[in-house]
Amino acid sequence: MSLANKNILLGVSGGIAAYKTPDLVRKLTALGANVRVVLTGSATEFVSPLSLQAVSGNPVHQHLLDPSAEAAMGHIELAKWADALLIAPATANIMAKLAHGLADDLLTTLYLATEANVFIAPAMNQQMWKATATQVNLGILTQHGTLFIGPASGEQACGDVGSGRMVEPVDIATTLSQALSSSSEQILAGKHILITAGPTREPLDPVRYISNHSSGKMGFAIADMAIKAGAKVTLIAGPVALPTPEGCKRIDVSTADEMLAACEQASSDSDIFIATAAVADYKAVQVAENKIKKIGDELTLTFVKNPDILATIAMRTDRPFCVGFAAESQDVESYARGKLKNKKLDMIAANDITAPGLGFNSENNALHVIWEDGDKHLPATTKSELAKALLVLIANQYTNTHSVQ
Ligand code: C5P
Repeated sequence: MSLANKNILLGVSGGIAAYKTPDLVRKLTALGANVRVVLTGSATEFVSPLSLQAVSGNPVHQHLLDPSAEAAMGHIELAKWADALLIAPATANIMAKLAHGLADDLLTTLYLATEANVFIAPAMNQQMWKATATQVNLGILTQHGTLFIGPASGEQACGDVGSGRMVEPVDIATTLSQALSSSSEQILAGKHILITAGPTREPLDPVRYISNHSSGKMGFAIADMAIKAGAKVTLIAGPVALPTPEGCKRIDVSTADEMLAACEQASSDSDIFIATAAVADYKAVQVAENKIKKIGDELTLTFVKNPDILATIAMRTDRPFCVGFAAESQDVESYARGKLKNKKLDMIAANDITAPGLGFNSENNALHVIWEDGDKHLPATTKSELAKALLVLIANQYTNTHSVQ
């Protein structure tokens, strides 16, 4: 983890979590970053400019129309200086202003003036985060290419419990360093990675099937990032409408049986198997030869369990390093730990599918990654950023387990 020589412009807006920003500056500088801080007017109610000046070692920027500050480092110069603009905490108000291109103070002006990657760590009351306007602004900012870190869930300053807490400074710093670390760091060079993605489609008759809403985006993002990290990638995809990541071998399948057959063939020379596919649990015992007719008020079909692709591969003696996904709506961690054990996996990435704006069919996700003797929370961000962070964990754990054999 390093932010060596990276110029981080930290924008602080006016939320209670602003009191954590001196710690955030320390965490960023500890990773080697140069940090300059911009405060909005209301942020100064929660944190003192002097503290931030002391910990960052640089003057704090507060006003757009300050002749002395402009003479030292003007706002355009500041926008160009930044390798990344990190806004933490970001209130609902600042998100709204940024989404709509307002530029009535220094921070909002810098957002428009910078070409650097922008990272936003929201912090607000859970109801304000859930509010339609905030969720629409989140969508707009994501379309701008802004990357979200969090928010995290838990108890809030106001006593509410829910999604809206600022991600802890240490996790913001880690996420930023992972995102800014060049993917030319070939952490998976020479490795063959097999990935399943998307749903499976189980036919009932010649025109009908059962399936699910998996978009395949997480698996495709992992494939893309794994190639950038130097791996040779085979991507076994269920029916999805996604372009093939450049440089990967894609095999399209439809049913779970087809996916298993493709995986068995490709896994023999794979080092790592990452199963992101949402495989249908059951298939029809018998696929009707002709279209099932509409007769009677009820229809009974009999289903039989599909093979567990991941467990089948993980059971083999010459198995690759096996990573599973667990999409859960309750008791996320305990179900994920159960699957890690029962399916004999090396690692599992769990996500809560009830979290608003995350998971199935959305652009963003958050993961709790668990392995035998450790775990790590990867806060909410785009599936690409998450894929990058997950691959760092997989590469580390793969190296640890394979160097002791
Ligand atoms: O048991 P559950 O479906 O929740 O397990 C999820 C994990 O197992 C995912 O990694 C998924 O890709 C994999 N899986 C599989 N074959 C199945 C069911 C799940 O590979 N039939």
